[in-house]
Amino acid sequence: AAFMILRQMPRRLILRCAVLLGLGGLQGLIGWWMVSSGLSERVDVAPERLAVHLGLALLIFMGLIWTGLEAWNGESHNRTPVVWSRGAAVLLGAIFVQCLLGGLVAGAKAGFVYTDWPLMNGTVLAPVDWSAGGLAFLHDQALVQFNHRIGAYALLVGGTVYAVQAWRWRLAEGSGAAAFAVAAALWLQALLGIATLMNATPLWLGALHQAGAALVLAAATINLWLVRRSQARLFTSGPRTRGL
Ligand code: HEM
Repeated sequence: AAFMILRQMPRRLILRCAVLLGLGGLQGLIGWWMVSSGLSERVDVAPERLAVHLGLALLIFMGLIWTGLEAWNGESHNRTPVVWSRGAAVLLGAIFVQCLLGGLVAGAKAGFVYTDWPLMNGTVLAPVDWSAGGLAFLHDQALVQFNHRIGAYALLVGGTVYAVQAWRWRLAEGSGAAAFAVAAALWLQALLGIATLMNATPLWLGALHQAGAALVLAAATINLWLVRRSQARLFTSGPRTRGL
């Protein structure tokens, strides 16, 4: 509202900001829905509701970063979908899914059990209680922790391969460095996750790991934005607009 009154808000960003504000309101509702799951039969919240709440918070966070970059650098009109930008988008999507899996770990309090690494209680996958069927993927402490571990390993491989390729091709200005920043953030985040787990998730390490996830997502969002922006500059001949 302040930027609009000061006439500092470009028209193209008004709708986007309104949507982000609306999502903030929806997040309040989802927060209530999440907390209400812990009011009757249980004193903690349902893991899947916590993951939805975390997921929307992270979506708003990514939307704010993207909108900030557009506000700072001007609009890019060319949205040519090519393999390269698909790779950056897949990497961002995979990190987002990994965060949701982390939300399930936190929600199921699975960071307090199976605190050995690389094994879980001396085995690859600790025993899973399948009595509730597919709900085990949301609630079972062993399974959600296992999925979060495997997701991390897959991301480390995928993120590193992506960074090496991005460096070799360097299709776009800054894209090699951005890809390496994402890969480095992923490795640090994985080490932090392992330290969190092996110390049975003290509050400060859990909070640091959560903040680290936001940083990894921010890096991957900026990487995708850079790749798409650079494509626009590669494929269009018009001058780059700066500011509004
Ligand atoms: C590398 C990519 C990773 C990402 C992006 C990531 C992200 C996240 C996120 C977003 C959460 C939820 C935090 C919360 O809601 O409080 C979480 C929780 C957790 N993660 Fe990770 N994680 C990664 C790797 C790992 C690894 C490799 C481990 C250990 C082997 C690990 C162990 C944990 C534990 C124990 C929790 C629960 C913390 C709590 O209860 O507060 N993470 N992760």
